[in-house]
Amino acid sequence: MKICVVGTGYVGLVGAAIFADWGNDVIGVDINEEKIERIKKGEMPIFEPGLSEIVLKNISEGRLTFTTSLSEGVRNSDVIFICVGTPQSDTGDADLSAVWKVAADIGKLIDSYKVIVTKSTVPVGTNQKLKQVIRDNMTSNADFDMVSNPEFLREGYSVEDMMQPDRTVIGSDSEKAFSIMRGLYEHLGKPILECDLKSAEMVKYASNAFLASKISFINEMAQICERSGADVSVVAKGMGLDNRIGPRFLSAGIGYGGSCFPKDVAALYKTSTDQAYDFRLLRGVMEVNENQKNYFVSKIVRYFGKNMADKTFGVLGLAFKENTDDIRDSVGIEIVKILRGLGAKLKVYDPEAMYNSKLVLGSTSVEYCLDKYEVMQDSDALIILTEWKEFANIDLERVKTLLKNPVIFDGRNIMDRNKIESSGFTYFAVGKRTAGLEALDKRPSGTPGVILKNGN
Ligand code: UDX
Ligand code: UDX
Repeated sequence: MKICVVGTGYVGLVGAAIFADWGNDVIGVDINEEKIERIKKGEMPIFEPGLSEIVLKNISEGRLTFTTSLSEGVRNSDVIFICVGTPQSDTGDADLSAVWKVAADIGKLIDSYKVIVTKSTVPVGTNQKLKQVIRDNMTSNADFDMVSNPEFLREGYSVEDMMQPDRTVIGSDSEKAFSIMRGLYEHLGKPILECDLKSAEMVKYASNAFLASKISFINEMAQICERSGADVSVVAKGMGLDNRIGPRFLSAGIGYGGSCFPKDVAALYKTSTDQAYDFRLLRGVMEVNENQKNYFVSKIVRYFGKNMADKTFGVLGLAFKENTDDIRDSVGIEIVKILRGLGAKLKVYDPEAMYNSKLVLGSTSVEYCLDKYEVMQDSDALIILTEWKEFANIDLERVKTLLKNPVIFDGRNIMDRNKIESSGFTYFAVGKRTAGLEALDKRPSGTPGVILKNGN
């Protein structure tokens, strides 16, 4: 199959590489010249485990090429995937400007039958409108079909998710398009749902909103666990063993972030109000998520006091989740900004997101460290904000010699509470009534800034 992928970001580049790996001839198109030049040289513009090997292999075997010319991509392909970004606009909707523009440009270039596939996340009804935009811009009388084929890729695992999807959703109103798309995905032996365009668009939003709801649910449970003395990790494990619930997306933490959940939940809520319906549950999901980071910061503030001018915190993790260099809508970055706003200095480290973080945080009150132990040197406490596995295994004795106070705020529950507490640390987690929290709660209110050692 001859495929063109427009937009070589997190989704488009992975898609292009793996379509080529399945034996198709693929052209990746992007307006960003620098990005295309880097990819052509074999340099990945993003960190995504396993991606670089697949891109290099398929470039060298001649199935994968890259260009900034949309015309070259469209003219030399039968199936065109639109994978440009759809970020959140000021009003909460998805900003579809890039999608409209690409669709109009594709319309101008079509001179033979094409299947035009939207992979970008777009609100219900968009593909119907895109069809019209393409038609309005066509100069030839060639035919085309529109397909909605949403992506369900988790950053950090997108190669794996693309190779082994739980399902593929194909929305269209054309039997010819279904048959072509089946040809692309059938070999995976995974379920394919063929449906109308609107339902396909909605599956994507419903799935992300449901997963975000699971996270906000467990974050609410964390609040009750902290107050009652139950342990949210144990509760989640017990719930997850029920097949009807499942164990995934039940990790309490600092709230969900990233380029998808926040914007997709907000966009689905906007869709509901546009349809004169108030999706109350989603309002709660967003409110809980917003509160989660503030609640986490409030523990640090209660412990150290609001004036943080003389405090330095060691921060592990800036990416919005583990296994990625992406900091778009990273809750960790927001927390660093809040602490900096309170006067604190931050020593930060992330295995992959340092470059991107420097671009948004700059150097005011932030020191970029070379490894996880450097952030701890002379810091008043250690704060964990991303669930990188390597942060779970730290040498506690070494940590103790480096930190000014043996205090850890674990925003991702990645550390072993018993081990930490028995090593003499004051430990704060999410949804666990640790000795540190117990002691903090016992303090008379309005006495911030009192340093508690080992929960006493
Ligand atoms: C994707 C989807 O498209 C988005 O809708 C979904 O919700 C998340 O995943 P992502 O791959 O993360 O977005 O976007 P990004 O990494 O920003 O990449 C988009 C690429 O499209 C960029 O490289 C940009 O240069 C390119 N682009 C943008 C074009 O080639 N043409 C344009 O007109 C606009
Ligand atoms: C998500 C969807 O999972 C994917 O299917 C979709 O296509 C794109 O959006 P992604 O944003 O890459 O993927 O990451 P994901 O693993 O879903 O995590 C999203 C956020 O939720 C992260 O901030 C993560 O830390 C947080 N999270 C996830 C939790 O707080 N708890 C959990 O149990 C799981």
